[in-house]
Amino acid sequence: MRVCILGATGLVGRELLHLIPRAWPGAQLALHASRDQELDLDGRRFEVKAAHHLDDVDATGGQLAFVALDDEHSARYVPRLLALGYRVIDKSNAYRGDPAVPLVSAGVNDGLVGEEVRLVANPNCTTIPLTLALAPLRRSFGVRAVAVSTYQAISGAGIAALDQFLLDAQVGYAAHNRLGAAFSPSGYAGNTVPHNGKTDDTGFSAEERKLMTESSKILAFPDLPISAQACRVPVAVGHYEQVWLTCEQPVTLDAVAAAWQSGAFLRIVPTVDGAGLSALACVHERDLALVGRVRLVPHDPTTVCFTVAADNLRLGAATNAVRIAARWFPAVDPTLQAPANLP
Ligand SMILES: NC(=O)c1ccc[n+]([C@@H]2O[C@H](COP(=O)([O-])OP(=O)(O)OC[C@H]3O[C@@H](n4cnc5c(N)ncnc54)[C@H](OP(=O)(O)O)[C@@H]3O)[C@@H](O)[C@H]2O)c1
Repeated sequence: MRVCILGATGLVGRELLHLIPRAWPGAQLALHASRDQELDLDGRRFEVKAAHHLDDVDATGGQLAFVALDDEHSARYVPRLLALGYRVIDKSNAYRGDPAVPLVSAGVNDGLVGEEVRLVANPNCTTIPLTLALAPLRRSFGVRAVAVSTYQAISGAGIAALDQFLLDAQVGYAAHNRLGAAFSPSGYAGNTVPHNGKTDDTGFSAEERKLMTESSKILAFPDLPISAQACRVPVAVGHYEQVWLTCEQPVTLDAVAAAWQSGAFLRIVPTVDGAGLSALACVHERDLALVGRVRLVPHDPTTVCFTVAADNLRLGAATNAVRIAARWFPAVDPTLQAPANLP
């Protein structure tokens, strides 16, 4: 099988290079990025070609392509990959809202990925863990309203932002300043800032709107009453989300845990205080969403609050994409095989 990665040198592309041999050992790789280059990764050297070579008349086709580019470049290259015969999974926002393109959270609605499907959109890195946690609770208790607050790692902004953050953090923390005044009040390092890009007339940012509209599409719940706030926190990898879920009936802590047992790709953290549940804990459980810290809201027995955390580069991006592709091309590693769920 020939597997193409566009954006192979980026944060998500590099994770795919780790996962593809686990899913499909022996797959032949065709790697592309902005220019011809060599990529050194964990002691291996990969040849990477400029993406524009895909436009050549004699460009080679293949079976499966992962696109890990920004929206604009995804929209430019996805049609070409489809024309070359690839089945495509796109990680950008370019196709997520397209009613003709399935938006798939593996373990929730991957049953939509049939033989006839050629293009699938991969959701945002906060949407995947949220929908994995919500889907079993919705099945058990129904959903009346969802509110979610996210605390997102810097790697969600790509490799350039992450590298700048690491540099700024090194410099900022080198100064022993208890106020943190060595950091820029508008920068990511040593700071918490609103994830407020493209805030529109509704007052919600693009990141917040994505979480709301994508959850609704994945859960096949058009009027899902959901609101979100998103911020960036000074963590390299690992998104943390705090959720308040109002159900159609009263819930108990035991019933929540039992519902999650029926879910996919979840690790239930049983401690009431959430010990073991953190953004960085996900870096040690990269292909699962951690759920826990379940509490009943004191004034309302139908509302439960809980925490979801997941590695945004893996479960929130590359792992989900591989699990989607495993619907077409079964994965050798069973942890990368999605179970054919429908919402
Ligand atoms: N990071 C996350 O947590 C996350 C999670 C879910 C979804 N996503 C989405 O996944 C996509 C990739 O994200 P990322 O974080 O991996 O980004 P990234 O680290 O910034 O990497 C971007 C990739 O795009 C390539 N590229 C840039 N300009 C190009 C051009 N003109 N032609 C071809 N390739 C070009 C880069 O190649 P060069 O190295 O040659 O510049 C690099 O391989 C984005 O749509 C993002 O929104 C990211």
